Amino acid sequence: MMERSLVLIKPDAVERNLVGKIINMYEENGLKVVKLKMETISRSFAAKHYKDHIGKSFYEPLIEFITKGPLCAMVLEGENAIERIRKINGSTDPTKAEEGTIRKLFGTSIRENCVHASDSMESAMNEIELWFNNN
Ligand code: CMP
Repeated sequence: MMERSLVLIKPDAVERNLVGKIINMYEENGLKVVKLKMETISRSFAAKHYKDHIGKSFYEPLIEFITKGPLCAMVLEGENAIERIRKINGSTDPTKAEEGTIRKLFGTSIRENCVHASDSMESAMNEIELWFNNN
C-alpha cells in the first residue's frame, strides 16, 4: 500500500553533517521526499511530538536533546513506507541495530540515534498533521 511517514533527522545527525547521507539512504531505497523543512523546535512543540513518552524516565533528556539545535523534518512516500523506513533506520538502540542501518552506522546512543520515523499508519497521520499542516 502507498504510504507516507514522518521522518526526523535529529539534531545529533544535523550537527555531524549527516543530512545528505541519510536522505540518500531513503532515496536509494526508492522512497520519495515529498515535504522537507529544517527547524529548531520549542519544548512545547517537542512535548506534542513525544506526548506518548511523557512520564518515562528518558523523557526530560529526550526533550533537551531534540530541542538543542536544528533538525530536519520530512515526509517520505512509497509502497509500505512505514515498515520500510523503520527497517532502514534500525533498532532504537544503535548497539542492537542491524548492520547497514542508519542507527547502526551513525547512532551513538539509545537517545542520540539520528532519526525518528512514524511507527504506524495512525501515528504517521497524526505526526504529518502536527509537523506540516498546523502552521
Ligand atoms: P524515537 O524513535 O524518536 O522515539 C522516542 C525516542 O526516545 C527514541 O527515538 C530515542 O531517541 C529515545 N529513547 C527511547 N528509549 C530510550 C531510552 N531507554 N533511553 C533514552 N532514550 C530513549
